[in-house]
Parts: sequence; C-alpha cells; structure tokens
Amino acid sequence: MNQPQDNVLIDVIDVWKSFDDLHVLTGVSMQVHKGSSDVILGRSGIGKSVLLKSIVGLLVPERGSIEVMGKQVMGMKPGELNDLRKHIGYVFQYAALYDSLSVRENLEFPLRKHTDADDEEIGERVMEQLRLVGLEEVVDRMPAQLSGGMKKRIGLARAIITRPDLVLYDEPTAGLDPITAREISELILNLEEQFGITSITVTHDLECARVIANRIYILETGAFQVQGTFEELKRASDPTTKAFFQVMA
Ligand SMILES: Nc1ncnc2c1ncn2[C@@H]1O[C@H](COP(=O)(O)OP(=O)(O)O)[C@@H](O)[C@H]1O
Ligand SMILES: [Mg+2]
Repeated sequence: MNQPQDNVLIDVIDVWKSFDDLHVLTGVSMQVHKGSSDVILGRSGIGKSVLLKSIVGLLVPERGSIEVMGKQVMGMKPGELNDLRKHIGYVFQYAALYDSLSVRENLEFPLRKHTDADDEEIGERVMEQLRLVGLEEVVDRMPAQLSGGMKKRIGLARAIITRPDLVLYDEPTAGLDPITAREISELILNLEEQFGITSITVTHDLECARVIANRIYILETGAFQVQGTFEELKRASDPTTKAFFQVMA
C-alpha cells in the first residue's frame, strides 16, 4: 500500500473492451508493483486473455489507460509497441511453440528478433536457458516430440531468454496433470526469484495461484470483484470468492 508510483510497472485504469455488443471488460483496474507476481483468476471466457493482450497492445480497448513501465500502451505506434515488447515475455495460452521449428530454433527466435547477439552467443544462451528448465537433452527435437509439460517448460524458457523485466503467463499449467502443473508453478516461482521478474499470470489453477501469487485478483463479469493474498481470499466470505475456492479446492 502507498508504494511510490515509480514502483508500479503496470498501471491499468478503468479499462473497457467490447467486441460488438459483447462487453468483456467493463472498468478493469490493477497496479502491478516491481518484483511482484500477481495472479488473475477467473472462469473461462471472462476476459483474462483479452486483458493480457490489451496490456501488450495486441488488442486496443475503447476506454481507459494502460501504462507499462511508465509508457501509455493505448495508441502506441507499431515501432513503439515493438520496443516495449522487447522488455516483456509472453507465454501464450495456445500454440506456445512454433511447430515447424526445432526447440533450438524456437529459443533462438526472440534473441534474433530482439537482440544483437551473434551466433556463438545465441548458441550459448539457448543451452544456458535449457539448463535452467532442465531440458538440455531436447534441444534438437521438434515440438511434436515433446510431452505437454516439456512444451510448457520450453515456452517458459523462450519467454525469459531475453531477460525481460516483465512476463505475462496465460494459463501456464492448463492441460497438465496436477503433478506436472505443480512443477511448472514452482519453476515459474524459481525463475522469477532468480531473475527478479515481475509478472502477471492468468489461470484457473488455484494451486498455481497458491504457489506463485503475491496478490490475486478475481475477474468476474467485466471487472475485478475481489483482490488479496491467497490466505486472505481463502478466508473471504463473499459469494464470488467462496465459489471459486470451493469449486477449485
Ligand atoms: N478477437 C476477438 N473477437 C471477438 N471476440 C473475442 C475476441 N477475443 C476474445 N473474444 C471474446 O471475449 C470473451 C473473453 O475471452 P477471453 O479473454 O479469451 O477469455 P478467458 O478468460 O477464457 O481468457 C469471450 O467471450 C471471447 O469469445
Ligand atoms: Mg484465456
């Protein structure tokens, strides 16, 4: 509370986004502080991915303000958006990897796009990154040859290979068995601590939220209804939060 403004890495104020007459976001606000790991919980189709995409300028809301690292994202020109995205890692909900590229090529991609690293340095950074997620042996495999958990690990590795200040994770544990999901959540926590990453994670995996969240927001019918730490929300008595924690516990 009352942290100085320059500690705020993402400042979302009263954001509204509709698709024709479908009103998805109707006044969403959140502030993510440097070093924090914030989690957005919400059921399917409620607008979690729309919010993440708006934060990186892939979707443009009709109203409100989104500042990332002190810069207004809404209205940015393509060149400015490209500069901003150099500082942001994004783990997409679907199709996390390029299927036609090997693991090595998938990891090289952001380095070639966003840095001036030469081939030797790129090669070293790819292997270092694979060591971090415990998957050096799959460097020459194609995505189709990986398990679901391996794909998620490679997606994480790719998102942070440029050492971004900020990482956005969209359902990082979706579709995994509970044990693998727990391993992925712990890996996220571990990498964030190691590299001082600030993050927003969108999920409906309560266990993932428990492991990684400093702060949890519950998105419901267009806006955040509740926010707090995992322990605070676990004890909350309002119907939205209770329903969430009962269903998912
Ligand atoms: N580009 C788009 N065009 C039209 N409707 C969209 C678009 N993106 C998302 N929506 C709709 O917005 C709602 C919220 O979607 P989304 O943010 O993906 O939900 P979730 O919370 O599951 O991530 C859904 O009803 C979805 O169909
Ligand atoms: Mg989604």
